[in-house]
Amino acid sequence: MKVKYLLVILLTLSSTLIANAKFALDSECKSCHPLISQEYESAMHKNSTIFKDPIHKAVWDRHPVNKKKGKYKCAKCHTPTASNLKEMMGKGTKGIPDASNPTHTEGISCAFCHRIESIKHGSMSNSNIVSKKEKHYFGTIKNVLESEFHTSSSDNKNFQNGNVCIGCHSHKKNKAQLNVCSTNISNEMDRANCVSCHMPKVDGSVSNVRETKKHSFHGFPGAHTHQDMLSKYIGLELLKNIGSFEVAVNNKSSHALLLHPLRLSQLRVSVERDSKVEKFKPEVFVRVIGKDGKPTPPWVANSVVKDTMIKANEKRVVRYKKQLQKGDKVHVTLGYFLVKPKALKKFGLENDAVAKKFYVLKKETFIVK
Ligand code: HEC
Ligand code: HEC
Ligand code: HEC
Ligand code: HEC
Ligand code: HEC
Repeated sequence: MKVKYLLVILLTLSSTLIANAKFALDSECKSCHPLISQEYESAMHKNSTIFKDPIHKAVWDRHPVNKKKGKYKCAKCHTPTASNLKEMMGKGTKGIPDASNPTHTEGISCAFCHRIESIKHGSMSNSNIVSKKEKHYFGTIKNVLESEFHTSSSDNKNFQNGNVCIGCHSHKKNKAQLNVCSTNISNEMDRANCVSCHMPKVDGSVSNVRETKKHSFHGFPGAHTHQDMLSKYIGLELLKNIGSFEVAVNNKSSHALLLHPLRLSQLRVSVERDSKVEKFKPEVFVRVIGKDGKPTPPWVANSVVKDTMIKANEKRVVRYKKQLQKGDKVHVTLGYFLVKPKALKKFGLENDAVAKKFYVLKKETFIVK
């Protein structure tokens, strides 16, 4: 009997720990933080739900946990403020997103991020521990102004060192213990961290209550949007040899060039001489996961089948067989597809403009001297 009571108490306790404390909605921040709110509209954090991200939806639609169990375990990172998060994560018989529930259309919301108190390391994936104070937000402003809507503090270590991101971004393993997606989180680069690269300081006020010159950009440049803000972390170089030439791609970021296993990057090079253009076969950078040497969806994969992705701080050199001449123009483009072209059909994304597009990360023309 006693054991049973203890269990009931423990279960109630643990469920209150994960229980979804109420989160203010994104729309509640707009009146005082119009600029940040507007930037955030374009960010994948705002659009991480199955209702707004067709690529995410396409993969979830085919996921066995959805098909067999009617669960949306992705919620932990993709809709972390869902009112029935516990059901989505496994409790009860069903837990799938419902477009008429406003907490299911909120992605990684303003209030969620700003209430991350600490991060718990886990072997499959990390977890965010959210503070129980509903309207208290962590930030990094010193001498912050009192707000009528919320209190705030800047003493949270994860905000100070720019590591508040790794509750979701560190690693994600599947049942076969394969790391499906991982970011190098050591942030060992000089003064650069997730926040300094992905939330740079830009012009404009933090709020309309007090004018400030700068604020941290909330459009979260990444693979979908604002790529131009990240291109400075990629260097392209041309090296001329006898009988050949080389193009070097210098990845100056602290993690691999692209992280998600759906991605495929290409280096496209052509040489223009006397208005004739010779195109070379694109060099491909990918990380392919799968089984028995063949690519598979992430839930089937048990190994890395191929990995030519450019790693953190790596300079990759690609050689081309052609003697360059004075006046030749060498056009170099580094870009990528969000979804590997060969996988588009498998996920029913062959007509999805966002999934099919070739995104340019860096482009340069070198004139041979
Ligand atoms: C541990 C946190 C976590 C969980 C759980 C999680 N994801 Fe993600 N997911 C991420 C992060 C972080 C990204 C962004 C990675 C990137 O862009 O490299 C992402 C990106 C994606 C993308 C790429 C989306 C795009 O538009 O390109 C897909 C697809 C995806 N996730 C599917 C899923 C599915 C399906 C589930 C549930 C079965 C799931 N994820 C569960 C963290 C998670
Ligand atoms: C009634 C106006 C008002 C509303 C509504 C509002 N804020 Fe604020 N917020 C402020 C003011 C004022 C500041 C201080 C700005 C300054 O110091 O220049 C601030 C500062 C912040 C900070 C920085 C805290 C720090 O210590 O660094 C965060 C984070 C924040 N707000 C998040 C939010 C979020 C999330 C929402 C919506 C859920 C929200 N705010 C809604 C007025 C508001
Ligand atoms: C609650 C989980 C969570 C937290 C915390 C989080 N992210 Fe994300 N992030 C995601 C998910 C999920 C996606 C993928 C959304 C999608 O594509 O559907 C994502 C996508 C991204 C992307 C890719 C955007 C693109 O255009 O492809 C970047 C960059 C990013 N996050 C940076 C950050 C940074 C920087 C932080 C910390 C300040 C952070 N994230 C915190 C879950 C999170
Ligand atoms: C020195 C700058 C730099 C740092 C530090 C950095 N990134 Fe990036 N990040 C980049 C660049 C450059 C890209 C590639 C641009 C692109 O995807 O268009 C990128 C891409 C990404 C993407 C999209 C990858 C994909 O496959 O969709 C995510 C997610 C991301 N970073 C998250 C993080 C997180 C989380 C951290 C901290 C642990 C971090 N980044 C640290 C520069 C940086
Ligand atoms: C993925 C996590 C994440 C999300 C989502 C997010 N923020 Fe932030 N926010 C941060 C981080 C980290 C900082 C601190 C940036 C720094 O130190 O430069 C910050 C800073 C701020 C600040 C302080 C001023 C500044 O510019 O540094 C305000 C205000 C703020 N956020 C409001 C919001 C609002 C409003 C939303 C939604 C529209 C939002 N945040 C969404 C992570 C997030």
